[in-house]
Amino acid sequence: MRMDVVTIFPEYLEPLDVSLVGKARARGQLDVRVHDLRAWTHDRHHTVDDTPYGGGPGMVMKPEPWGEALDAVLASGGSGDGGPVLVVPTPSGRPFTQELAVELAARPWLVFTPARYEGIDRRVIDDYAARCDVREVSIGDYVLAGGEAPVLVMVEAIARLLPGVLGNAESHRDDSFAPGAMAGLLEGPVYTKPPVWRGREVPEVLVSGHHGRIGRWRRDEALRRTSENRPDLVAGAEPEAFGTHDRATLAELGWEPGPDGRFGRSSRPVEE
Ligand code: ADE
Repeated sequence: MRMDVVTIFPEYLEPLDVSLVGKARARGQLDVRVHDLRAWTHDRHHTVDDTPYGGGPGMVMKPEPWGEALDAVLASGGSGDGGPVLVVPTPSGRPFTQELAVELAARPWLVFTPARYEGIDRRVIDDYAARCDVREVSIGDYVLAGGEAPVLVMVEAIARLLPGVLGNAESHRDDSFAPGAMAGLLEGPVYTKPPVWRGREVPEVLVSGHHGRIGRWRRDEALRRTSENRPDLVAGAEPEAFGTHDRATLAELGWEPGPDGRFGRSSRPVEE
């Protein structure tokens, strides 16, 4: 997979040389190219921003450098790729989810356009949207100083899904938010050796060797954690997502099915 990042802070993307993404690049599984937007300015001060039309605080990124930069990056692609997806990080975008990560991981070429200041002149997004697949994406309901950190987040989430990048393909199977048996539930706790640490034992079931009991325990822990940390996921789940045992666990956690079959809070969960 190829990824291009156009930014005024190329050094902000240096973490992409490290760890999982760095190794994927070194192995040739991922081709990441970082470009300095200021290379496409022509004035002495390499200006990339200007005051907003209509007034207001802050500055807006000028369209000309972005237009030249993106034209050059797009022109460097092969014709067989079907064109890139342009990923525009912005707090006003659609939420970046595991589902979107999976979708983007299946595309051969992504171009990221992290902005600073109040964002990029709208005409840039409109111009490329007329020619390619443009996604405005937010990584969460908070405002960062720029789109570079969101690019690091998205690249890592996407890269770990590429074939051969994680050692064990099973590793994504139980991810929180992954499709499959645990769909819609958060992953429960994990343990490793030693069996006792600071007097704290590993849950007995995990050393029992009984796969049925272990699977059930993991599912109950996932339900518990989801109920505690993300009740919205329990309330939004399709009723068919929960089997008989799940329903008993949910009842213990203070949930009951409503008239439409979906679960709602009946009471506070019973304290242990
Ligand atoms: N730029 C600033 N804040 C952002 C956010 N939450 N998501 C994506 N891009 C951003």
